[in-house]
Amino acid sequence: MAGETDLKTLLTSLRPAVREGDYVYALWPHGKPLAGDIEAAVREAEGLTVVLSRTEADRLGLSYDFVAAWITLQVHSALEAVGLTAAVSAALTKAGISCNVLAGFHHDHLLVPSDDAGRALDVLTLLGRGLVLRDEQPEDREALLALTAEAFAISPVTGLPVDGTPIEVGALRELFDCPEYIPALSIVAELGGEIVGHVISTRGWVGELEMLGLGPISVHPHFQRQGIGSALMHESASRAEAAGEPGIALVGNPAYYGRFGYAPSHSFGVEPPHAEWGEAFQLLPLSGWPDGVRGTFRYSGPLAAL
Ligand SMILES: CC(C)(COP(=O)(O)OP(=O)(O)OC[C@H]1O[C@@H](n2cnc3c(N)ncnc32)[C@H](O)[C@@H]1OP(=O)(O)O)[C@@H](O)C(=O)NCCC(=O)NCCS
Repeated sequence: MAGETDLKTLLTSLRPAVREGDYVYALWPHGKPLAGDIEAAVREAEGLTVVLSRTEADRLGLSYDFVAAWITLQVHSALEAVGLTAAVSAALTKAGISCNVLAGFHHDHLLVPSDDAGRALDVLTLLGRGLVLRDEQPEDREALLALTAEAFAISPVTGLPVDGTPIEVGALRELFDCPEYIPALSIVAELGGEIVGHVISTRGWVGELEMLGLGPISVHPHFQRQGIGSALMHESASRAEAAGEPGIALVGNPAYYGRFGYAPSHSFGVEPPHAEWGEAFQLLPLSGWPDGVRGTFRYSGPLAAL
């Protein structure tokens, strides 16, 4: 049967599945006849690389560094299909997940670090469902305010229903029109044409150092816990990095933001705007983060007033 070549069809029918166990790359000893349960092999001028289960590598006494989960894209892709590998690796790269691709006759196989297997599956599932991250447009604003109202209807601080309109809605309305608004950092997540998430980062400062304050971030309650918030967090960081921003600060649950590399701001010399925020005020230093930063973070006007 001929494999699929249409990229859109391929992406909507990826059906990623994880094989059981861990897999490793190892160099096969020069001159030794090939034996054992080898899953894939590549001959190079320097020697023969084999990919096999970690258990089998241990049994054969082969050494390895990279321990991977093996994800098979169960869609039957044609070998001449254009763009599938690029789309999959771009999505995983955005999520900060390294990926080695092996193409078989029927399927593509991805070897990602074992610890990232769950996240990689989320990313691939969202890619298949057509998650689009794009710049916010002024005509989105009413929908984004409504989304924020739905997301914050239960207070993330108390876990209780909020009386009236959540304060994040008014703050977002003001952020759209404040001088600290940065259009490329107001990012909308769309699934099948429907707005399902939004995140905004605006100008903030520590002393004279310009950086970013992230928030609010909202994912529609029906679509939470499917990786959309994570995709928005990764997109914010990669856009900020590309724009040469030195770092991003936010207030929230360290159990969530820690997974994106955020750590309490005081470990980087930055104090929260309100001392009582303590460990909940966190910072992600980017590659331009300077040495010797000391001071208290200041949010843009609308957030400073909260
Ligand atoms: C916070 C929010 C943006 C996360 O988006 P999401 O799409 O649900 O998140 P993801 O699917 O990427 O990640 C889900 C994981 O994060 C965890 N998580 C989500 N919100 C969390 C929170 N506030 N504290 C701790 N963990 C949280 C989930 O338990 C889940 O964990 P698991 O992967 O171990 O199951 C979304 O839940 C939301 O809009 N909440 C309401 C508004 C809000 O609280 N905004 C942030 C205020 S600081």
